[in-house]
Amino acid sequence: MSNGDRPPILATLRLIDGSLVEISKVHEDDAAALVEYADVTAGETDFLTYGPGEFGTSVEAEAAFLRTLDDEQRGLFLTATLEGEIVGIATLARSSRSRIQHVGELGLSVRRALWRRGIGTALATTALAEGRRTGVTRAWLQVRDDNDRAIRLCVRLGFQLEGRRVGVMITNGAEHDLLVMAAKLAEPARKLAQKGHASSPAGTSS
Ligand SMILES: CC(C)(COP(=O)(O)OP(=O)(O)OC[C@H]1O[C@@H](n2cnc3c(N)ncnc32)[C@H](O)[C@@H]1OP(=O)(O)O)[C@@H](O)C(=O)NCCC(=O)NCCS
Repeated sequence: MSNGDRPPILATLRLIDGSLVEISKVHEDDAAALVEYADVTAGETDFLTYGPGEFGTSVEAEAAFLRTLDDEQRGLFLTATLEGEIVGIATLARSSRSRIQHVGELGLSVRRALWRRGIGTALATTALAEGRRTGVTRAWLQVRDDNDRAIRLCVRLGFQLEGRRVGVMITNGAEHDLLVMAAKLAEPARKLAQKGHASSPAGTSS
């Protein structure tokens, strides 16, 4: 990934104004843009685990982290770009330990000005399909219990409530619970078709 070649586009989304959002794996050269993205989005929502100025990762450290993802078994990091600018990200973090490597933790965010255009859903769907392709069979995430939009999105993708972590997030002095939600990922459409089932987009099943 460090040879300057851009990763292939995995999915596209045409917005109502005709502009095109492209979803692809990150490239090591995206490190500076990702740190900036993290700083900007931190000021746009209270639903992330860090606030403005708290991302706390240097460009060098981010680039080093992105290089670890050359190994697909380590996890997945996707960007959604609009006219070359990062407008959303999805991550699927995995352990290097074989007993739990089939599980991926989904992280998701979109620039606030572009909410409610389908970008979050496209990012999550693509991340889950790519995760499934690389061996992830269970996805999970944590979401603040009053983050209704994110919870609805996850439920639509097949995530179910597995638990509640009480008071683990403090925002502006107030304690919040995090919901633990998880989904078993469907078998890839290709394999279903081989078994004689109707093919369908790779995604989740509840
Ligand atoms: C949660 C988050 C990622 C959702 O991103 P998004 O791009 O707005 O997601 P989508 O556009 O796919 O879906 C959101 C809503 O827009 C609707 N929508 C999608 N395309 C639309 C369109 N073209 N026109 C109108 N509405 C549309 C969806 O139906 C959905 O509606 P709902 O909220 O009533 O269920 C975003 O709000 C975010 O970054 N939040 C802060 C960080 C966060 O909460 N991360 C999740 C932690 S698990």
